[in-house]
Amino acid sequence: MAKLAIIGGTGLTSLKGLEIVKREVSHTPYGEPSGPLVHGELAGNEVMFLPRHGSGHTIPPHKINYRANLWALRENGAEKVIAVNAIGGIRADLTPGRLAFPDQIIDYTWSRVNTYFEEGLTHVTHIDFTEPYCSELRQLLLEVAEDVGIDAAGEGTYGATQGPRLETRAEIDRLERDGCDMVGMTGMPEAALARELDLCYASIAVVANVAAGRGEGEITMAAIEQHLMSGMESVRRLLETAVPR
Ligand code: HPA
Repeated sequence: MAKLAIIGGTGLTSLKGLEIVKREVSHTPYGEPSGPLVHGELAGNEVMFLPRHGSGHTIPPHKINYRANLWALRENGAEKVIAVNAIGGIRADLTPGRLAFPDQIIDYTWSRVNTYFEEGLTHVTHIDFTEPYCSELRQLLLEVAEDVGIDAAGEGTYGATQGPRLETRAEIDRLERDGCDMVGMTGMPEAALARELDLCYASIAVVANVAAGRGEGEITMAAIEQHLMSGMESVRRLLETAVPR
């Protein structure tokens, strides 16, 4: 199997079950990744792990060096990337703790460095992004979820917002009108950069909360953390079966 990397999101700064072989500090032409790459074995298979927000969860979504992260993973041999992303559920079935495998993206982020193709070009490059995620990897995740009995939504449109604040009710209404089923802050430009590097990239989205204005009262960090904890248990189970396949 092609070498697999896992990018951990909020609630997944370390990967239980990963037998760590080494941690490696990488430097890239685009700067420093979020932290050292963790090389290890999961369920007997070689994987790399990188917590997107840093190992102490200190880098907010708009400050992440997405280019350096993906570059470092590819330089270290990654061909496939499973990204784990915390989301707010807009669609009614995306309830806290549930997983989803998004199949589309709408990008609302701004002022993030979102391409490798901007300096020293010999020609302008436009990648095809009609299907933003790797269908082969999505299919695998779907099959494994079914096999191990994890309840996950098989598709959905991910709206990527700038953050770090959560959205207003009106913003979520707009996202819903646009066709977004879920909202998160880290899906872009990561997915597009992965495509630019020709990486097979898919996302496991974990519902941390119902999106603004869709539930009762305020969205608290305490509730988000609690839901992510149960969601991440499903992510670990999923990965432990998916990685060897
Ligand atoms: N909005 C944006 N990003 C998020 C949310 C949300 O409600 N929950 C977790 N990440």
